[in-house]
This record gives sequence, structure tokens and C-alpha cells, in this order.
Amino acid sequence: MLVSAEQMLIKAREGKYAVGQFNINNLEWTKAILTTAQELNSPVILGVSEGAGKYMGGYETVVGMVNGMIKSMNITVPVALHLDHGSYEHALKVIEAGFSSVMFDGSHYAIEENVEKTMEIVRIAKEKGLSVEAEVGSIGGEEDGVIGTGEVADPQECAKIAGLGVTMLAAGIGNIHGKYPANWQGLNFDVLAKIQAVTNNIPLVLHGGTGIPEDMIKQAISLGVAKINVNTECQLVFAEATRKYIEAGKDLTGKGFDPRKLLQPGYEAIKATVKEKMELFGSVNQA
Ligand code: G3H
Ligand code: ZN
Repeated sequence: MLVSAEQMLIKAREGKYAVGQFNINNLEWTKAILTTAQELNSPVILGVSEGAGKYMGGYETVVGMVNGMIKSMNITVPVALHLDHGSYEHALKVIEAGFSSVMFDGSHYAIEENVEKTMEIVRIAKEKGLSVEAEVGSIGGEEDGVIGTGEVADPQECAKIAGLGVTMLAAGIGNIHGKYPANWQGLNFDVLAKIQAVTNNIPLVLHGGTGIPEDMIKQAISLGVAKINVNTECQLVFAEATRKYIEAGKDLTGKGFDPRKLLQPGYEAIKATVKEKMELFGSVNQA
């Protein structure tokens, strides 16, 4: 059964570890992430962007696939199904479709409008028992059509949004979606510490988890980060493993063209990446 992310994140914040949000694109992604979470006895959050939701045939299809897999594969660790960087309209859609968690990303609005819309989503989502993530400031780079300026969050605005009853708060602290450029300045821990000080122990969310060095991940967790989002890294390792398989001509021998064989190396690569992240984030054996 899907669960809200609330309890797993409160527990993570108290226990000084983070739960990984891994974005899904299809059945292989979902199965790789759920299987790894179960093997490692770790809670997990499946992230679905609006684009990935559309690609998979709509939010109802995603809910059906994830619920079916949890049941058929006997997944007993806590799993939350979460809309990633959702618009107001799509936040309402996933609440109806049966997601257990939702991000309303109002970071591109002026703070007053972000407050107003976040409040409305909190009211509707909480009635149905979903957890809610809000965002302040902006994550740099681009993810699935969502482009961010990279503006560092204002702690006072964070305090305002955190006070609306959201479950978790994402803040721009120099983090970027996609690969980090060579001249990246790193995460802004001074701002993160200020945000932590004024947001009443709310679990904080670190987006752009691909390629953040280990020491920065650990420091972020020590400053209240309880959820870390990873997307691009799984895509990169999947693409690399699939390319190697094809370049080695394995699809040309025997039944190597069978999609269940062709997609296997990419599936295993996602599993290895998810395992590595869960170990780094400290969520292993926390289910
Ligand atoms: O919302 C999803 C994440 O922020 C993923 O970021 O693609 O850089 O890992 P990433
Ligand atoms: Zn993100």
C-alpha cells in the first residue's frame, strides 16, 4: 500500500538520514527502485514529473502500475508516490488519481501567490491524507521542461511557506538539476542553516541530487535535509549500460533483441545507483 511521505520523513529527520526520491519513467525504472528498496529494507519515494506521467499514459496508469507492483512483488517497505515539480492543476489531478504525496512547485510565482496556491493544495491534499512539498527560491538548470533560475531562497519566505502546514520544504541553495558544471560553487550551507533555524524542524528537501559530492550530502543531512531527489543519474547509467550492450552487438546474437534482455543491463545499472544512494543517504534498514 502507498503511504504519505510524512512519517518516513519525520523519522529520517530525527534519525539524521535522508530518504531518496527516485524519479520513474516506466516499468523497468519502477521495478528496479522498488526491488532495491525492499532488498535494502529502506523507505523510498517514487517521483513522477508531469512529463513522465504523460509518457507513462497518465496518472491513473502510474497509480495502477505502482500499486500492482507493490502487491504482486510483495513490497513491504514504505513507498510514497509523489508528483515532482507539479503545477497547481497537476497537483489536483494526482490527488484525484491516487498519488500519496504531491509537490506543488510555486517557486516561479511571487511569494504571495506561492503562499496562496500552496495553502489551497495543503487544504485539499491533507483532507485525503497526502503529504505536500512546497518550494521556495529556485533550483537551477532544467528538469523535464521545468527551468529554474537558480535563485537562492530567502529564509524568511521559507518560514512563511513552512508555516502553511506543508510536510516538507524544498529550497534553492545553489543546487542544480542535471549535471553540475565544472565551475559550480557548491551548496550554500550558510543559507541552509538559516532556513533550518526558522522553519521549525520541518523536513527539508534537496533537489538536484545527481553528482553532489558525498561530504556535501552529509552536511546537508546534518542541517535538516531529510529527502534527496535523484533523477538524471539513473538516466545516465541506464543509457550507458544500454549503449554498451548494443555496441557489443549483444542484440544481434541469440535472442539478445528480446526487450526483456535488451533492457536488463540498464535495469541493473539503476539498481546499483539506487543502492549506492540509499547507502550514502543512510536510509538502509530504516523501513
Ligand atoms: O526533482 C527531481 C530532482 O531534483 C532530480 O535532480 O536530475 O539533478 O538528479 P537531478
Ligand atoms: Zn527537482
